[in-house]
Amino acid sequence: VKALNMAMIGAGRMGLAHARVLAGLAECRVSKVIDTSAENARRVAEELGAQASTHVEDALEDPAIDAVVVTTPTPTHADVVEAAARAGKAIFVEKPIAQSLEAGRRVVQAVERTGVPCQVGFQRRYDPAYLRAREMIERGELGKLEGIRLVGRDPYPPRLEYLKSSGGLLVDMGIHDLDAARFFVGEVAEVYAIGGALVEPELKQHGLFDTAVATLRFENGAVGTLEVALRTAYGYDIRCEVLGEKGRIHIERDRRPDLTFYDERGGNFDRPRNFEQRFPEAYAAEMVAFARNLHAGRPVTPGVRDAWYSLRLARAAQQALETGQVVRVREFGGEL
Ligand SMILES: NC(=O)c1ccc[n+]([C@@H]2O[C@H](COP(=O)([O-])OP(=O)(O)OC[C@H]3O[C@@H](n4cnc5c(N)ncnc54)[C@H](O)[C@@H]3O)[C@@H](O)[C@H]2O)c1
Repeated sequence: VKALNMAMIGAGRMGLAHARVLAGLAECRVSKVIDTSAENARRVAEELGAQASTHVEDALEDPAIDAVVVTTPTPTHADVVEAAARAGKAIFVEKPIAQSLEAGRRVVQAVERTGVPCQVGFQRRYDPAYLRAREMIERGELGKLEGIRLVGRDPYPPRLEYLKSSGGLLVDMGIHDLDAARFFVGEVAEVYAIGGALVEPELKQHGLFDTAVATLRFENGAVGTLEVALRTAYGYDIRCEVLGEKGRIHIERDRRPDLTFYDERGGNFDRPRNFEQRFPEAYAAEMVAFARNLHAGRPVTPGVRDAWYSLRLARAAQQALETGQVVRVREFGGEL
């Protein structure tokens, strides 16, 4: 079977990272890079030896393109993915699939109506430790699940423009850990959250939060917490603990390997500073899986239906954070 022809739509941070993984695979080649910024498109296209363009149609109307990798800003995902599905392209789209649940529904309908493969960028599901945890849980090694504790802290806040268009703290950032909560424990029945603008007090004027704690009650009776923050003094901090009657799984990469510096104050080791340093295996594995599964005609995962339910939970959590009310997830978001 010949190599798949791919186009990057979006050539920012994630677009470049995904393109670099795809460039190393025999199953595909990246032949086009589309970005509304001509400069970004050109830079990434040059690195890959691909064609640059500022028009999405140049990828979607080209019959030679088999698949697109969508890493444009979140508010554009729904329109771009719908158009790509209508054009019959296989799709990888970064999380979240859309900013609103309504736009997310349109995405799911477009993908299911056209039958195109569509994978969503929840890279934790491809991290070796998260994968192993899921297998252990499925084998019953924890027994009955009772709880989950999630921590997601970024080293510093993104730019205000990004924050304003990202859907809110628990949608943009919290959704990764909320998706992991669903991956491990199941659907959440109700969520409550409190938070504030503790890092950047001026965020308050825009109705934005940089710090939050959410409590979760799952449909199976388990309970959980999620802590999210947009600043640490010490780098990137992602933790997950799953508790069951027979034990507990703890996932954390606190050290970068190989070197600890010892002096009179004790040992000093290096930690992951950002998401690229915490999840390199996962970002590579999700893209390799996308390309190889497409190439072999196998299904891709996680799909849009699953991603919509993670968006439903994240929107419910954001609603709880903004209103101070307990939000019942099904009543709030409905079903697909
Ligand atoms: N999975 C993860 O861990 C992770 C991490 C960061 C970001 N993301 C997601 O990736 C997406 C992009 O984030 P980023 O950090 O790469 O942003 P970015 O700003 O670095 O890149 C976005 C790019 O899209 C371009 N663009 C904007 N509108 C466009 C349009 N309509 N058509 C084509 N190009 C357009 C911009 O010029 C920019 O180059 C977001 O949805 C975000 O939620 C996921």
